[in-house]
Amino acid sequence: MRTIARAKAGFYPTPEPVTRAIAELIQNPSGHSGRLCDPCCGLGQPARALAQSLGLVSFGIELDRDRFQESKIILEDTLRSDAFATSIQKQSMSLVFLNPPYDDLGKRQRSEPAWLRLLTPVLQPGGILVFIIPEPRVTKDLRRYLATHYRQIAFFRFPHPEYLAFRQVVIFGEKTASPLRDRRRIDALATEEIAYQSFEGRLTPLYAIPPQLIPEPIEFRSHWVSPEDQLAEAAAHGIWRDPRIHDALHFPVTGPCTPLMPLRKGHLARMIAAGMLNNQTIATGSTRWIIKGFTDKTTKQLPPEEEYCDTPKGQETRTVTRVIEMFVPQIQAWDITEGPSYGQHVIVNCVDHHGAVTPETP
Ligand SMILES: C[S@@+](CC[C@H](N)C(=O)[O-])C[C@H]1O[C@@H](n2cnc3c(N)ncnc32)[C@H](O)[C@@H]1O
Repeated sequence: MRTIARAKAGFYPTPEPVTRAIAELIQNPSGHSGRLCDPCCGLGQPARALAQSLGLVSFGIELDRDRFQESKIILEDTLRSDAFATSIQKQSMSLVFLNPPYDDLGKRQRSEPAWLRLLTPVLQPGGILVFIIPEPRVTKDLRRYLATHYRQIAFFRFPHPEYLAFRQVVIFGEKTASPLRDRRRIDALATEEIAYQSFEGRLTPLYAIPPQLIPEPIEFRSHWVSPEDQLAEAAAHGIWRDPRIHDALHFPVTGPCTPLMPLRKGHLARMIAAGMLNNQTIATGSTRWIIKGFTDKTTKQLPPEEEYCDTPKGQETRTVTRVIEMFVPQIQAWDITEGPSYGQHVIVNCVDHHGAVTPETP
């Protein structure tokens, strides 16, 4: 799927009860300034709710035009962009809220690890990750990555009935100051049984917003150009503005035109074979025909040729195989003259007088 089509299809907003539960698990008791980033923010509601409850400035990125229009009203800094074509300053975010589209990157590669790798560097040490994915996507590789970069990792299942749709889980983690290098420890953390917790009942806060690391302003800009902007740019600048190109490519249609001289048979045959006169009626004397033409590209094997060449071992004979590409025109005509010949169908294969089709001329 192309990126925009994928974005359209991949909209699964975080249910409100889940956003409320997430907000209960994170607090900002010291009232630190900070930033929240939702890199695929949809309509922006969960990002706004969490940013408001924690006193953070909200940053959102959304690819879909309509959802971007909605989210930019309620988030503080929003870009219509592909998150993968956006520069976000490293270590600038206190909280990353990541509920990526549920799709794959082709070749059976899921997108969730790519999103996690993209967003982890933008979290400051001590920053909080909230990562929502379907439970079957919690793979060993993903957990290895989490164990390398996060501590206090916790897994919560969506409550019922929301869990039933996509079996989503919310993964929390606190970004470490430096990645864990101990492979054995990483493996142990990635393979231990996951104790999924529940959002039901009263929740005790587990995470706190750290003091902000990078003061204003931060880099947050897009390198992505929307298809609409690309089109407008190409129309306003580029070669389409050049009158020579325009004149060469645009033929004003002013209705049927009469050639200055009668067409020779060869001209007519080429026009018919090119399909330029498809579905037109032509008359030969009192007979009227409907014609259709098309030209097919094909290849033809030529007889092999022998070649004699000198090699360090003496003279050698080599056989050269030759193939040429050809355009094979075909014209079909149906007699539509009233009378006994009505409906007669003629197929004209354009071959040369040796019975071979005409080879492509350079
Ligand atoms: C699962 S929804 C999550 C929406 C919102 N964060 C929430 O939790 O309610 C994923 C959103 O990501 C958007 N999206 C998909 N690919 C994107 C990309 N490459 N960059 C930015 N947004 C993208 C989709 O348009 C969709 O709105």
